[in-house]
Amino acid sequence: MKNALIVTITGLFLTAAMSSIAFADGTTSLRGARDLDKLSRMFETKKQLKKKGGIERAFKAAPPQIPHDISKDRVTLQENTCLKCHSAANYKREKAPKVGDSHFKSRDGKTLKKLSSRRYFCRQCHVPQVDAEPLVENVFKGLPYEKK
Ligand code: HEC
Ligand code: HEC
Repeated sequence: MKNALIVTITGLFLTAAMSSIAFADGTTSLRGARDLDKLSRMFETKKQLKKKGGIERAFKAAPPQIPHDISKDRVTLQENTCLKCHSAANYKREKAPKVGDSHFKSRDGKTLKKLSSRRYFCRQCHVPQVDAEPLVENVFKGLPYEKK
């Protein structure tokens, strides 16, 4: 019983000490160096980049990155505002690229009339960009890919 108490108390001290540590190379978590018993602060949001003509893909089957702001877009069970511009029905009117052909394929490769439910949550694969330094060094090099 006494030992268990000592272990618990040591544990509490360690947790308290660790909660205010930032890593030696200066990186911190999104939570920052805030104590665990304090509420986390809202993290800084950066302006999303706009890039006319799209962003170069890293390789042939890479999901293209989003070259515009999507901070007002919503994808929920009730609505998907991305489809207001990118769906097969709307893309011409909105002068936007149509969702990829692969987005109409079922799990077993059949071509569907409607967008596959596997492709409903666009941001699972497509992400907007901000002008920011990477948190850690990244030496990834893509394969050259020519847009159609
Ligand atoms: C108001 C219309 C509109 C809405 C809403 C919209 N987009 Fe776009 N999107 C565009 C247009 C127009 C382009 C082409 C931009 C260009 O190439 O200059 C584009 C480009 C893209 C591309 C790049 C395609 C490529 O081949 O490079 C992706 C990916 C994309 N959008 C995803 C999304 C997602 C995901 C959402 C919702 C979170 C969304 N868009 C909402 C109009 C829209
Ligand atoms: C499971 C991953 C995944 C999801 C979810 C997904 N995409 Fe894609 N998307 C891709 C990949 C991979 C490509 C490139 C290959 C292709 O064209 O199919 C692509 C291509 C695109 C393109 C470019 C098409 C072209 O012909 O150049 C647009 C626009 C796009 N997606 C929009 C969307 C929108 C809008 C949604 C949500 C309704 C969505 N995607 C959901 C993976 C995904």
